[in-house]
Amino acid sequence: MPTSYAYDTGGEQARQRLGSLEAWLDPGTTRLLGSLGVGPGWRCLEVGGGGGSVAAWLSERVRPNGYVLATDIDPRFLVALELSNVEVRKHDILNDELPEGAFDLVHARAVLEHLPARQEALRQLVTTLTPGGWLLVEDADFVSFVPGSGDDDADGALFRKCCAAIQAARGARRQIMADSSTVPFWPRDWSTSGRRAASRSPRADRS
Ligand SMILES: C[S@@+](CC[C@H](N)C(=O)[O-])C[C@H]1O[C@@H](n2cnc3c(N)ncnc32)[C@H](O)[C@@H]1O
Repeated sequence: MPTSYAYDTGGEQARQRLGSLEAWLDPGTTRLLGSLGVGPGWRCLEVGGGGGSVAAWLSERVRPNGYVLATDIDPRFLVALELSNVEVRKHDILNDELPEGAFDLVHARAVLEHLPARQEALRQLVTTLTPGGWLLVEDADFVSFVPGSGDDDADGALFRKCCAAIQAARGARRQIMADSSTVPFWPRDWSTSGRRAASRSPRADRS
């Protein structure tokens, strides 16, 4: 299955881009992870871990006996973490295997939204959960991606430009853009075996 990830994954620009994403999104992510009860002993899977801030947060949170498997198609920034309870794996969620029934928490942020075959990726992620385990997916909701009332400064101008480009693409390729949100993403026919799912669209953090 083609991976189709469009961005550069290494180098200085990639590091900066991932750092900006982390600075913007980590407060909401860690608040939500905390509310799910992530704590000592949990076994966690961080998919498409990027710059590694969430893997590092999980590592601290699950000590002393918990474990984090952090994956990415390009894991160079995850390797640099060098944390004793974090295993780093070069892994493509669309093509590579993962252990079944192994994780109390599976987290993927700003990953599935990039993958045309995201439903397949989701299916694979669900199989990795323990019964009662949590799947937390955070993705942009491009369908309702519009400027808000606080977007009239310089950053807002750039944001409005991005929104306009997205709306234009949406007009031209309506179905693709309508499909680009993974929220709500949980197909009704899936057997959940007591597994639980949460999702968040990070745009909400801009308020
Ligand atoms: C926008 S970044 C988000 C990084 C991190 N999850 C975060 O929110 O800070 C997307 C990440 O997904 C990774 N990625 C893209 N396609 C992937 C795939 N098929 N399997 C696993 N990781 C993938 C990229 O290398 C990149 O690190």
